[in-house]
Amino acid sequence: MTQIDVSLGERSYPIHIGLDTVPVLQDVLSRLGARGAVAIVTDSNVAPLYGAAVDQLLGEAGLWPRLCVLQAGEENKRLDRIEWLCGEFLRAGLDRSSIVVALGGGVVGDVAGFAAAVYMRGIRFVQVPTTIVAQVDSSVGGKTGVNHPLAKNIIGSFHQPIAVVIDLTLLRSLPDRELRAGLAEVIKHGVIADATLFAYMEANAERLLAKDLTALEYPIRRSCEIKASIVAEDEREQGLRAILNYGHTFGHGFEAAGKYARFLHGEAVALGMHAAAALAQELGLVDEAFVQRQRDCIEAYGLPVAWPEMPVDVVLEAMQHDKKAVGGALKFILADGMAHVIQRKDITEAQTRAALEAVRGGRG
Ligand code: GLY
Repeated sequence: MTQIDVSLGERSYPIHIGLDTVPVLQDVLSRLGARGAVAIVTDSNVAPLYGAAVDQLLGEAGLWPRLCVLQAGEENKRLDRIEWLCGEFLRAGLDRSSIVVALGGGVVGDVAGFAAAVYMRGIRFVQVPTTIVAQVDSSVGGKTGVNHPLAKNIIGSFHQPIAVVIDLTLLRSLPDRELRAGLAEVIKHGVIADATLFAYMEANAERLLAKDLTALEYPIRRSCEIKASIVAEDEREQGLRAILNYGHTFGHGFEAAGKYARFLHGEAVALGMHAAAALAQELGLVDEAFVQRQRDCIEAYGLPVAWPEMPVDVVLEAMQHDKKAVGGALKFILADGMAHVIQRKDITEAQTRAALEAVRGGRG
């Protein structure tokens, strides 16, 4: 088992990564002085797979676990679920010293984390991510929250977990499409920060798509290291942390234009990275070879690099909505070489449109 530390002063915490690491939860909770009631928040996909095992594990540790099962799906990432969870916490007898365990993918982590952030003005929580997206991105860094009908992730809080327990064996149950979408975020980490990681992703698509857990260990660990160091430097996204949003400005447009049903988040990020590379090429930041190299890597994971069925105007409009939601100019994270990105807020609508036109039908 490997341990990575997220260094945030008194809010520092460890990420434990390995095979069959779920049992370290007992140790983690006992070292943190957990007593009495503990809530396990999960969803209707994960509960039948791992709910009983985690419940038993915590029971054996002398705790009184209560399994709180959300309906699976992004549409359940909403405010009334927080109210329901707080009711569950009250009924279970959670107090200020209690701990919530988030067992699931990104939605579970965000909702459980936000419920923990607001219940009794904030209690501790542990992330046990069960998807690649959650293991390499959303479980680390303390972004928690829910969606509003008008905008995603607009109601939330920075609330760091007290530990992250990543058990690679949990990925065995992950559907293929989710696996691919999660690996898009790893490719992203390579492009923004680590050429060796990117080269690894280029060279190992077959093993990673076959869920070879030995092959998955390095990119997941490395992604956590990259994310941990960025979060340690800029916890509240005042600057550097925004580079984690590479591919996301276009990506959010694709997600919204597809009514959050057409693309998984990671698929939209893959398309968004491709569009961002086209834009970077138009601006003279990278050459054709860079665009092609990134595209080949994305395609090797069966991720989308074209979206011929969706009009450019619809995506542009969805991106503008994002802009209204944050009340400022669109911010683009653009590569100016492998493993190096810059932030630009001066991109015109014409340039954005040209990049979308360039990649829409598969060119570029
Ligand atoms: N997923 C991007 C971040 O945590 O900042």
